[in-house]
Amino acid sequence: MSTNDSTHAPFPGHPGAARRVSDLLPVFPWDKLEPYKQTALAHPGGLCDFSVGTPVDPVPEVIQKALAAATDTPGYPTVWGPVELREAVAGWLNRRVGAEIGPQAVLPTVGSKELVAWLPTQLGLGPGDQVAYPRLAYPTYEVGARLCGAEPVEYDSVDELDGSRVRLLWVNSPSNPTGRVLGRDELRRTVAWAREHRVLLVSDECYLELGWEADPVSVLHPDVCGADEQGRQHEGLLAVHSLSKRSNLAGYRASFVAGDPVVVRELLEVRKHGGMIVPAPVQAATIAALADDAHVAEQRGRYAARRSALRAALEAYGFRVEHSEASLYLWVTQDRPCWETVAELAALGILVAPGDFYGPAGERFVRVAFTATDERVAAAVERLRG
Ligand SMILES: Cc1ncc(COP(=O)(O)O)c(C=O)c1O
Repeated sequence: MSTNDSTHAPFPGHPGAARRVSDLLPVFPWDKLEPYKQTALAHPGGLCDFSVGTPVDPVPEVIQKALAAATDTPGYPTVWGPVELREAVAGWLNRRVGAEIGPQAVLPTVGSKELVAWLPTQLGLGPGDQVAYPRLAYPTYEVGARLCGAEPVEYDSVDELDGSRVRLLWVNSPSNPTGRVLGRDELRRTVAWAREHRVLLVSDECYLELGWEADPVSVLHPDVCGADEQGRQHEGLLAVHSLSKRSNLAGYRASFVAGDPVVVRELLEVRKHGGMIVPAPVQAATIAALADDAHVAEQRGRYAARRSALRAALEAYGFRVEHSEASLYLWVTQDRPCWETVAELAALGILVAPGDFYGPAGERFVRVAFTATDERVAAAVERLRG
């Protein structure tokens, strides 16, 4: 006898349960790309996979060594981490980002995706609240809204939003998927709007060190958030950072959030109860990664070369590039539906992400991640030349 027949209520998590969280969430879009991946894999020269922004180069040695040296850590690490970690984060924010921030206003996270997905829940948002994010965006902002029962809302400009309903406003510069960078004036205006309406502005800055034709600025920079007035410089603001891209650490889950010290404290309390702890060896690796700028410069050099090779080949093939002044993506179009482009490139063994994964506004674009080896990039360039 099935346990889900008419005389028994379904177990939680089973189909038909009164409230299954996965039913609230969008369909995981990557499954739709699978047939195109199969086509691309069949190319005699093999697959050139530009569909996902996942690092392919080695973890820098200085970071591997720090991780290895910290493997004998039998005890529980803390959610806040040792003071050395918070000082390393604050020091990096001061040195590289220009943020005037102390170690009390930073919090390590287990990769930034979990924070993006769970932040609205952890801040107590729910039905009746709105979570707003850019019209073309990383899909997890919407997921975070849905997980807590809040209403997801897309925006091009904050002027379209209802300041009395939005409780959390996502900003993402440099942007995934478009590579667009918001200038100081635009960020300042957005901060002013958020503060006026008492909306928490959360800036996802995981591509901040990957500017090519623009110099991305943090929401925590005094040019954007204003000078310190009675210790309230970062009030209502958070910045989310990740080492996944800048340090090839996607496999380590190393990231942090920083900003409004009151909100950081609240998150710390909630996350302590939830056990959202960065493993001690990763905490040690993060300290080493943030102290070293050389590996970031070296990795940037690799990406810059791949980006220009691919960009030139895509333009010669007939693509138009929009934005793409920063991040790890080229946002390109042939002015036709994205799935036609995906199919055409898959026949060449090249896999890219359809723009509609990032919202209906992307339906005539594809996103080309230049996170592939030099050899794969060269192979794709050859094929695009025909
Ligand atoms: C805009 C944006 N935010 C957050 C993330 C999550 O990065 P991670 O969880 O590796 O820190 C990504 C990953 O691609 C991203 O593109």
